[in-house]
Amino acid sequence: MDKKALEALLKDMSLEEKVMQLVQISGAEYEADAEITGVERGQVKDNVKRLAGSTLGIWGSKSLRRIQEQYMSEHPHHIPLMFMLDVIHGHKTVLPCPLGQGATFDPDAVRKGAELQAREAAADGVHATFSPMADLCRDARWGRIMESTGEDKLLNSRMAAAMVEGYQGKDLKDNAHVAACVKHFAAYGAAEGGRDYNNTELSEHTLREYYLRAYGEAIKKKPAMVMTSFNSINGIPATGNRILMRKILREEFGFQGVLISDWAAVGEMINHGYAEDQRDAALKGMLAGVDIDMCSGCYSAHLEGLVNAGIVPIKMLNEAVLRVLNMKNDLGLFEDPFRGLDADVTPVITEESRRLAREMVAASIVLLENKGKTLPLGKEKIAFVGPYADTKKLQSSWAFSGDDENTVSVWEAASEVYEAENIKSAAGCTMLDQDAVTAREIRHIDNWQDINNCLLAEAISVAEWADTVVLCLGEDMAQSGEATSKVSLRLPAVQMQLLHEIKKTGKKIVTLVFTGRPLELMEVRELSDALMVCWLPGTEGGHGILDVLTGKVSPSGRLTASFPYTVGQEPLHYDMYPTGRPKPENGPGPYTSRYLDCENGALYPFGYGLSYTSFSYGDARLSAQTMSPYETITASVTVKNTGDRKGSATVQLYIRDITGSRVRPIRELADFKKISLEPGAVEEVSFVINEEMLRFWTAEEKWESEPGKFQVWICDNSRDGKPLEFQLS
Ligand code: GLC
Repeated sequence: MDKKALEALLKDMSLEEKVMQLVQISGAEYEADAEITGVERGQVKDNVKRLAGSTLGIWGSKSLRRIQEQYMSEHPHHIPLMFMLDVIHGHKTVLPCPLGQGATFDPDAVRKGAELQAREAAADGVHATFSPMADLCRDARWGRIMESTGEDKLLNSRMAAAMVEGYQGKDLKDNAHVAACVKHFAAYGAAEGGRDYNNTELSEHTLREYYLRAYGEAIKKKPAMVMTSFNSINGIPATGNRILMRKILREEFGFQGVLISDWAAVGEMINHGYAEDQRDAALKGMLAGVDIDMCSGCYSAHLEGLVNAGIVPIKMLNEAVLRVLNMKNDLGLFEDPFRGLDADVTPVITEESRRLAREMVAASIVLLENKGKTLPLGKEKIAFVGPYADTKKLQSSWAFSGDDENTVSVWEAASEVYEAENIKSAAGCTMLDQDAVTAREIRHIDNWQDINNCLLAEAISVAEWADTVVLCLGEDMAQSGEATSKVSLRLPAVQMQLLHEIKKTGKKIVTLVFTGRPLELMEVRELSDALMVCWLPGTEGGHGILDVLTGKVSPSGRLTASFPYTVGQEPLHYDMYPTGRPKPENGPGPYTSRYLDCENGALYPFGYGLSYTSFSYGDARLSAQTMSPYETITASVTVKNTGDRKGSATVQLYIRDITGSRVRPIRELADFKKISLEPGAVEEVSFVINEEMLRFWTAEEKWESEPGKFQVWICDNSRDGKPLEFQLS
């Protein structure tokens, strides 16, 4: 439909019709087995169901076609209903959770993964996904760190931009892409105490320098939507925050798409103490520029009255409605309201989609320890032990449209690789301690102790039979994601007991950790001969993990979030400030910024990861020692594979601005390149440093660089390497 026709349609719509285009209701209003991802409010009124502009949480071409046919037949202007769904890291083929995808340090792979997700979701009638989550996360206590790509603003920027490109492609009208939604705007990951939905206190400087960066880069790729976050920022809920939404998002970032609230976030301004009642919340949401009210009921109940009372200008309403109509138009829904609703087409997992997923699993795995080259495994007798040894539940809590049945477990993959007589498996213990709490329930298992005594006895006998034990431990998938904040980052006690008991058998232990967040792994490190983080790997989890365990693929993942010595260090991030009393590298130093009982940095830092081969970095070189703002400097290093296996190195460029009008971090990631080298091969890796990379939010409240001295590292993690220096004139 062309612009004039859209405007004519808008003009012809009744006030009620306009208001309802700004209302999103749960898919449960249309279908019993909808996925509910928020607090339900009970059935909506008939007119709301008949006229609501969009719904979420349902998929499947057959049922959505039936829903769309009925909806359009009843709609006065036959405006199509929009179907939205959380396709976060997979629809049918579930990929590694985003924290694992980030660990690939491969935006192109992540873009291809988003393309695959979009293809599968669009074939199931989905028009829009609520992804990418571009929230910067420095606090492992916050369970939603699993849905992010971690603590670094540059890596998050590259990954979020890649996901928007992958989801949307070049033309939203084609039936292999879906509208993207950058979320949660803004700074949701900075929740105080790591407690979900909590307030965030951020200076303008920290907000702009760190937390807004990835949203801004993703918005440059023109996502169809942005979603507001649940948190308040410096005391004002994001969903009613006019400065954040109208000044920064719309004016500065130039976002022209649809701004949708998070689930019930408009109404929750009452709980925040920012809105008197639902009518006031509806007003505050509109004034802030929220176009669609997801499931709070405030817009459907009060917006028409607010317009009739002249409190909400009709111009403001029309602008919001036109943005929603434009989105439907960009999706081609006016020409083809049944796109993706071909009853004969349902997305299936293909060899190609499995291959892509399997490669991403292997590339996401981070090898943390490999004492005495325990890995890769040889032809020894192997016991696969632990609650993750033989489970198909390798997806996250945000992969509900995927079927566990399609997942390849570690044990199934091992059974394809090894002769039956050479492998055995045992669960060894329950996943969780007796009264563990997950997002939605307390799991209390009667006769829990008896169960675990039996499981342990079986595991010990299997371990005594084996040469090597692959111990598959981790957090339950329901212990990361929304509303899963924790004050402990330790593995469940019952799993640690299993580890200690297996250690007593004297066998080699390869520990695999399945998790959606950084964990405390110091004790696990001491007791393991090899240690790998496998995240929540999804459908091809078992295959990807066995490809790495057997050496078919050398591990190349790098951490995207700091793994602490202890939770007491949280929030923890590598790009910290030096302080006026920096702790010396080689010791405590009196009167310095340190803990009496812990290191300042991480047990395993951002960017860290091992390979089965080894790499040597030659001396880094700079093409010049000074540069004007109009010049560039090339930083180069030769990297050699000094081992006997092919491997991938993630070469990282870090920069430090020594002196500025504001204090500057001890180093920050400025670029990265992943290279693959055969044994003995050498490659020169170069990065171009330009003035734009040196800009920051200065004391003048501007994005600019400042003359002065800079340090540069080219290395393989955020802690090591020797710096070079250059001067910006
Ligand atoms: C949830 C989440 C958000 C999700 C939305 C729709 O509460 O916060 O990430 O996209 O509701 O399911």
